[in-house]
Amino acid sequence: MNKETAKVLREIEKNAERDGNPNWIVSREVGEFLNRLIRTNNIKRVLEVGTSIGYSGTWLAEALSYTDGKLYTIESHEKRFQTAKENFKKAGIDQYVTQLKGHAPDVEIPDMFDMLFLDATKVEYVSYITAFLFHMKKGGIIVADNVLSHAKKMENYKEYIENSPHLENKLLDMGTGLYLSKVI
Ligand SMILES: C[S@@+](CC[C@H](N)C(=O)[O-])C[C@H]1O[C@@H](n2cnc3c(N)ncnc32)[C@H](O)[C@@H]1O
Repeated sequence: MNKETAKVLREIEKNAERDGNPNWIVSREVGEFLNRLIRTNNIKRVLEVGTSIGYSGTWLAEALSYTDGKLYTIESHEKRFQTAKENFKKAGIDQYVTQLKGHAPDVEIPDMFDMLFLDATKVEYVSYITAFLFHMKKGGIIVADNVLSHAKKMENYKEYIENSPHLENKLLDMGTGLYLSKVI
């Protein structure tokens, strides 16, 4: 990882710790996990729902700089969208990122993705996966955050993925809880 990228990640973490994580960023452990997942599986195209200020996006894009891939990341909040833009630039990974401004799933996205990372409004996860599953390649991975911290709000998502004939699922006790689903 280059020095600029590491510095931006540390700065965001420091501010989150000081201010009580007002932008709801994932933990460093989850960031590192997503980064490793991309590198070890040679993942090239990633769609993220919920950019916030670009912390997880920086981990994702940094890995995509090794696989020569691209991150598409959706955010509806104007100020966080702009802060993410600045962070991606400062981190030196902005050429691997296309930011999409709007409210998912009502955002036009290109085809096809190897990975989908869901980290936005928990009760909307079913609407995201319903819309975006058809933009996923076979063998692709869907990662959903907050499944343990927001278990109640995630019940309908859990039910959806467990009953889908297109998905194989695994729960990871990491950060606030991650569901990993493989598209079969
Ligand atoms: C948990 S934060 C994302 C944190 C980010 N993934 C990280 O770890 O750095 C959720 C973000 O999703 C955005 N969001 C919520 N619902 C959304 C939607 N339907 N479409 C686009 N963005 C949404 C919120 O504005 C917020 O910035």
